[in-house]
Amino acid sequence: MNKKVIAIDGPAGAGKSTVSKMVAAKLGYVYIDTGAMYRAVACKVLREHKNVTDENIISIAKDIEVDLTYEDGLTKVFVDGDEVTNEIRMPLVSHVVPKVAKVGFVREKLTELQRKMASRGGVIMDGRDIATHVLPNADVKIYLTASIEERARRRCDELKAKGYETDFDSIAKEIAFRDKQDMERDLAPLIKADDATLIDSSDMTIDEVVEKILKMCTD
Ligand code: DC
Repeated sequence: MNKKVIAIDGPAGAGKSTVSKMVAAKLGYVYIDTGAMYRAVACKVLREHKNVTDENIISIAKDIEVDLTYEDGLTKVFVDGDEVTNEIRMPLVSHVVPKVAKVGFVREKLTELQRKMASRGGVIMDGRDIATHVLPNADVKIYLTASIEERARRRCDELKAKGYETDFDSIAKEIAFRDKQDMERDLAPLIKADDATLIDSSDMTIDEVVEKILKMCTD
């Protein structure tokens, strides 16, 4: 089977990265987490500036080097050679990253890098604008979503499993807020590409979603 390029977009918490990693493992593909790249830029902005302004974001993005490695199912993220794999998941980074992702200069720079990474094929790339903007010629395009209630329930379960207290209503509110920011920004907003297949995973198991995508890759 020739190596394909798979684009998978959707809102936060829809299960894109879990599903993408499983599909990548089954097909022997590389998984590229583009959200991690925006988070990497946000990390460096926070390290070097008190204020997250467009001006500061652009000055950081001008000479930042973002690298992703993917080995044995694990993504590692590097900024200027320093590993930031754990740091990019910190709440403060999650809070400021939508501001970073709105800046045109950052999007152009990361889009170019993402296209280079996908150029050899055999990749599954997830994000918000992959099918619409980064890889409009991808072989397989998926828009993976789930209801806000289901995404909040999954997030609560994840946090509970890690021993954290959870509040369903505030988690649902945070998810709705992130959806709004991603969908309403001017540049490359989150939207389903006309030719993408919609998968609503609200009533599906992860395995069912993975099966469906694998079938699309072999059809
Ligand atoms: O998927 P995530 O939560 O790690 O994404 C982090 C942020 O980056 C989020 O605000 C959406 C944004 N993002 C984007 O604008 N374009 C992408 N291709 C991937 C993520």
